[in-house]
Parts: sequence; C-alpha cells; structure tokens
Amino acid sequence: MADANIVFSPRKEVQGFEPYVPGRDMENVKRMYKLKRVIKLASNENPLGPSPKALAALKKAAAGLHRYPDGFSTNLRQALAQRCKVKSSQVCVGAGSDELIELLAKAYLGPGDEIVVSEHAFLRYRMAGELMGSRVVTVPMNVMTHDLEAMAAAVTARTKFVFIANPNNPTGTYNTREQLEEFLITLPARVVAVVDEAYFEFARLNSDYPNAIDFFKAGRNLVVLRTFSKAYGLAGVRLGYAVGPDALIDTLERVRPPFNVSIPAQAAGVAALGDGAHLKRVVALVAREKKAMERALKGMGVPSVRSAANFLLVQVSPHRGDELFEALLRQGMIVRAMDEYGFPEHIRVTIGRPEENRMFLSAFREARRLL
Ligand SMILES: Cc1ncc(COP(=O)(O)O)c(C=O)c1O
Repeated sequence: MADANIVFSPRKEVQGFEPYVPGRDMENVKRMYKLKRVIKLASNENPLGPSPKALAALKKAAAGLHRYPDGFSTNLRQALAQRCKVKSSQVCVGAGSDELIELLAKAYLGPGDEIVVSEHAFLRYRMAGELMGSRVVTVPMNVMTHDLEAMAAAVTARTKFVFIANPNNPTGTYNTREQLEEFLITLPARVVAVVDEAYFEFARLNSDYPNAIDFFKAGRNLVVLRTFSKAYGLAGVRLGYAVGPDALIDTLERVRPPFNVSIPAQAAGVAALGDGAHLKRVVALVAREKKAMERALKGMGVPSVRSAANFLLVQVSPHRGDELFEALLRQGMIVRAMDEYGFPEHIRVTIGRPEENRMFLSAFREARRLL
C-alpha cells in the first residue's frame, strides 16, 4: 500500500488460498495450441445446452436488464417450492450451488467449529470451511464412496455441518437411500447434513438413489443443494437452490447479497423447470453415452469408476493424469487432471455428445500411444 510500513494483508485463513482452477477455457486453448476445433469435456456441463424455452425466456428478459432483479426471486422460488413440494420459505436461491455452500459457511462457521467432509469430495466444501477458519475433518472413502458410518463417527461437539455430495464429484459414486437414512438417524440434532445433489437429475435413474428432500420432509436435519448448471444446461447464468428448514433458509436470506440471482437466471430457471421433455432428452443421452464410453474404455483395458453423474473418473496409470491431460489438450480435447482431488493417476471426463465422445476416445488412444 502507499505507506510501506503498513502491512495490509488478508485474514490469516485466506493467506494460503490458491485461486480455484476451473476447466480450461476453450478460446484460450484454441489460441495457445493453434487449433481450429476444441472440445471441452471438463466441467460436467450439459452436452445439449439449455432448453429452447429457457433461451427464449432469456432473450425476453434482456429487455428489462436496466432494472435490478426481483431480490426474492419470487416466481422462481415459487416454482421450485411447487416442484419440490415444500414451502417457499424453505427454498433459498443462489448464484450457483457454489454461492449456497459459501453462504452456509459464512452464516454458520467460525474458528472453533468443525465440518466433516470425505477425502475425495467436491473441493468447495473444504474451501468454505477454511475460509471461515473452521477445522476441516477429512474422512477416508470406502471403495471410492463416502463412508457415512465413518463420517458419523467423526462428528464431535464442535461439528456444524457434514457435507455429502450425492453423487460425489469427481468419483460419480452415490450413497443409497438406506445408507443415507441410517446416517441421518444417527446424526445429533445440533449437526446439519448438507446433501449436495448437483447431479440429482442423472442419478435418479438408479432405483436405490435417494431424493434427500424426502428426508427433509420426514423431519431429518439436513439442507439439500441442487443446481441448474448440470442437467438443465445453465451453468453460464449461475443458478442453484437450497431446500431446508425455515430457520436455516431464513438465515441464508439474511446473509445473501440482496440481488444475488440475475434477471436472466431467474427467467431461464422458471422456463427450464417447465421443459421436462428437454431434461428427459439430456438425461437419456447422457445415460446412453456414458454406458458406451465406459464400454469403450474397458475395451482398451482402461478402468473407470461406475458413475451416477454425467462424467467418468478414468484411471490412466501407468501414466500420470496431468501428462494425459496435456497430451489430450494438444489435440484440442479439454478434460480435467485430478491431482487436486488426490487422484494423480486419473482424469475426469464429462459425457458429451456422441461425436464429441468418439473424438475423445480417439484422442485418448492417440495420447496413450504417444506417451
Ligand atoms: C458436487 C457439486 N456441487 C456443486 C457444484 C457447483 O455447481 P454450481 O455452482 O455451478 O451450481 C458442482 C460443480 O461442479 C459440483 O460438482
């Protein structure tokens, strides 16, 4: 700062933070490697894009962009409450489920508190806990799946939240209805389970996959997070929601920025909810293509983890994930290396359109041949 003697530094909790590394940007990769065509299968986005109804609503909403949005996202909140069969006061809408994770942390966590996460879980939970100076208790997985029994055993008098991504990113594995129910029954009343169902629309094809909102309605202590970024194809507008107890939602309402969900996001969200046919098409395509991709990889002797989401965690040993990532990038294929998730010999590949998946498989073969 202006006076060199004044040390102006962030809170100590923030000092070790590294910027979040998102999936590589397509235009940058094009320029960097002088490529004509780049395919991105890196951020678990929807290969078919949003519903045409959502796009039409977005265009219509553009006429009102000089105004602030409805700060309560009234229409969207009502549509979500109706869809989930809960009260509007039990729904909070945010700029992606990412914002809701952060709001939970800001509202409830501080130094001295603890959160429980599992070892290879979605990283934003850990970051939210660390941001607030809370202790993050990490529990090893059981065969690539959250070990809910061990997570329950890790709860102490200081625990505020147990974060459960169901299915988890990047493993794609899920906990069954029976497992989740058993876990929620044993959870002390002063602890809240955060059940993140970002991939709910894909995972529900499995008959033993739980809809965690049912447990909330049955009086269990949890908040459920969902997003429009994945199956609904609206990652770019940033829209997610939380369903939970009135008191918790009311608290989130008090800490959220007043206009956190934009006019286009609210309009697109309502329209997307009204297009069940598009959602069905997306989910069916992903299921079909995921099976084909799994089979093709297996045919090459390459194992992948059975996934309930729209991506596969692919084991690439004896290669390192980051070298395979680079070799694919040079061919214009963007996937994700998984070092930061504790999988140095894996990559994560989002299921794309059929031609994109075919191109991935051929680039993957080529990359393995060259390494
Ligand atoms: C498990 C999980 N939760 C939450 C998110 C965040 O999604 P968004 O902030 O786009 O709603 C993601 C995104 O990859 C995810 O995988």
